[in-house]
Amino acid sequence: MENFESLEKEILQKIISAENEDAVEKIRVEELGKKGRISKLLSELGSVEPDKRKIIGPKVNNLKNIISEKIQDRKEYFINLKLDKRLLEEKIDITLPVKINQNNNGRIHPVSQVLEEISEIFGSLGYEISDGPDIESEYYNFNALNIPDSHPARQMHDTFYLDEYNDDEGQSVLRTHTSPVQVRTMENGKPPFKFISPGRTYRCDSDQTHTPMFHQIEGLAVDESTNLGHLKWTLETFLSAFFEIENTKIKMRPSYFPFTEPSIEIDVLCDRSGSVLKIGEGSDWLEVAGAGMVHPNVLRSANINPAKYQGFAFGFGLDRLAQLKYGIPDLRTFFSGDIRWLKHYGFAALDIPTLSRGLKK
Ligand code: PHE
Repeated sequence: MENFESLEKEILQKIISAENEDAVEKIRVEELGKKGRISKLLSELGSVEPDKRKIIGPKVNNLKNIISEKIQDRKEYFINLKLDKRLLEEKIDITLPVKINQNNNGRIHPVSQVLEEISEIFGSLGYEISDGPDIESEYYNFNALNIPDSHPARQMHDTFYLDEYNDDEGQSVLRTHTSPVQVRTMENGKPPFKFISPGRTYRCDSDQTHTPMFHQIEGLAVDESTNLGHLKWTLETFLSAFFEIENTKIKMRPSYFPFTEPSIEIDVLCDRSGSVLKIGEGSDWLEVAGAGMVHPNVLRSANINPAKYQGFAFGFGLDRLAQLKYGIPDLRTFFSGDIRWLKHYGFAALDIPTLSRGLKK
């Protein structure tokens, strides 16, 4: 048996003097390969007397570990060196045009497309876009919207509650609607307001027409003389532009939401007589939105004087609008991430909506 220390020194010296990856690999084969020196020492251990083996065994193993590690380190050193050199030498010309592969183009999801369409229409009507967090507090999701702690409407919302709790704002929740953005945006600005707020919403619900995550689009207009007539005109104008039909009629049905007074539900004219549902014709009605005049308590939550200002609010299901417009039957397929579905129902990147073109404003 050899002197392990001098053997270790000798091999380490060899590793340090190796000048490239191949040279390191050669050392690995010479020392650790099947016929390598260290492997040979290991195989000889079997014939050493047990007492001696107890001392020598760990030494040989230790030597093997140290050498393997150093060889690996040295290899990585050369690999990184090569990479650094390549990074310095290679340049990418980012001004070159992209090669478009017809079969492999990405598609825009119908929800994104419809969101673009809606934003374009409301944008042309002078609405801004406002955002709020998906993780809300009970305060903004409920209390500030005139839904106090014991209000039955809380049950109707099938809320996902999170663990965090805060003395001022209550428990954290996944927002059940986009209405909390009404209060958040009004708190941070001064009237008049005119904005829409699209985004994800969550309810503990799942079947053909409900998914635990879905999208809504909120709308709010507040000024000194905003009234229900303005709301009716706005929604008729929006729906006509969105469904690309002239003068869609809507029906306003009395309803109840704690954050609006009066509250209404919006139905749009439709024809169910054929095999496909047609919007804007026929003699049937289809519910598309909840709306109403903003409740004075909601204005108060945002420090706005309800004696001076009033406004309307509405909320649409974004996915539902996409389903209706593009004839997509099952809501769950929207979020199943199936690339074949997206190829079929998706949009080309350059399908930029121009639905507001014919709008009378
Ligand atoms: N937030 C209501 C819902 O999710 C919709 C709504 C919005 C109703 C604005 C009235 C005004 O059902």
